[in-house]
Amino acid sequence: MKVTIIVFSPSGHTLKVAQLFKREFESWHSKVQLINITKNEEYLDTNNIKDSLKEDLDEHDVLLIGGPVYAGHVEKNILSTIDQLPEVGEKYGYLAVPFVTYGGVHSSIALEEMGRHIKRKSRKSIIGVKIASEHTLTKAMSKKINTNKPDKFEEGIISRAVEKIMKIAKIDYKKIKDISSSFRYAKLPERILFNTFSQSFFHKKHKNVTLDNEKCIKCKRCIARCPINMFEEHEGIVKMIKDKSQCILCGECYYNCPVEAINYSYIEMAKKRLKDGYAKLEKEQSAIYPKEG
Ligand SMILES: Cc1cc2nc3c(=O)[nH]c(=O)nc-3n(C[C@H](O)[C@H](O)[C@H](O)COP(=O)(O)O)c2cc1C
Repeated sequence: MKVTIIVFSPSGHTLKVAQLFKREFESWHSKVQLINITKNEEYLDTNNIKDSLKEDLDEHDVLLIGGPVYAGHVEKNILSTIDQLPEVGEKYGYLAVPFVTYGGVHSSIALEEMGRHIKRKSRKSIIGVKIASEHTLTKAMSKKINTNKPDKFEEGIISRAVEKIMKIAKIDYKKIKDISSSFRYAKLPERILFNTFSQSFFHKKHKNVTLDNEKCIKCKRCIARCPINMFEEHEGIVKMIKDKSQCILCGECYYNCPVEAINYSYIEMAKKRLKDGYAKLEKEQSAIYPKEG
């Protein structure tokens, strides 16, 4: 079987999951292509995605696509990529598997909205996978959530998911149903809240990261770590070269700056909302949808 995996992963956990999927599919002798769109300008600019996909996508039977949950939604770069997928047909199969990683607090409508966008591109979601990972916003809080996750437990979930995919992919595709309605697992009030308010609504007013050039020692870690290439060095000075509205608030610049030259005020709000790391976690953490049985 031929598999393509597309992933966006600001802090590396979703990439780890994508790599685990790749390893597992390869153990079933599948041919796997992994496209990592993190830091990849060809995919970060919505005007380029269509052509980039045309150029990069190998022939595949199943497409896996994954990103992190940000404010109850899947991070928006993944949705823009789904929206630009080429038509299915001889080269690209009908089957898709959305997957998300999240800090275990609430994954809300992330899988649900991916399923909806995938359906609009005439693909059928055959399963959906959510994987609890380290909550990156808790790195500097009193209690870290899900440190060292994904771990062995999540590896088991991924291995079961691949076994399921291999089974389903053998069935005549006309008989395979889209099961994206099973991704509506969040409670109704939560679903209504997040379907009403977009990710950009929650994040808009916090997109005010700044870099203090008086403190900056030009180590360039922010340049290396920013998943959307916000920083660049010009004539010996590190600058933010994109509009602040494009910042995704991942905090990578803030966490990796050794001299605290990054001002990331969103962390204060996150600290309150996550109760300094003591926030209540979602009942079921890592899972495959529809429910196994
Ligand atoms: C800006 C931001 C918003 C987040 N929002 C949520 C959320 O709503 N629910 C949750 O459980 N985790 C949330 N997280 C945690 C991430 O989903 C989690 O750490 C994810 O695994 C990060 O993936 P990555 O390492 O591939 O970037 C958020 C993280 C960031 C940086």
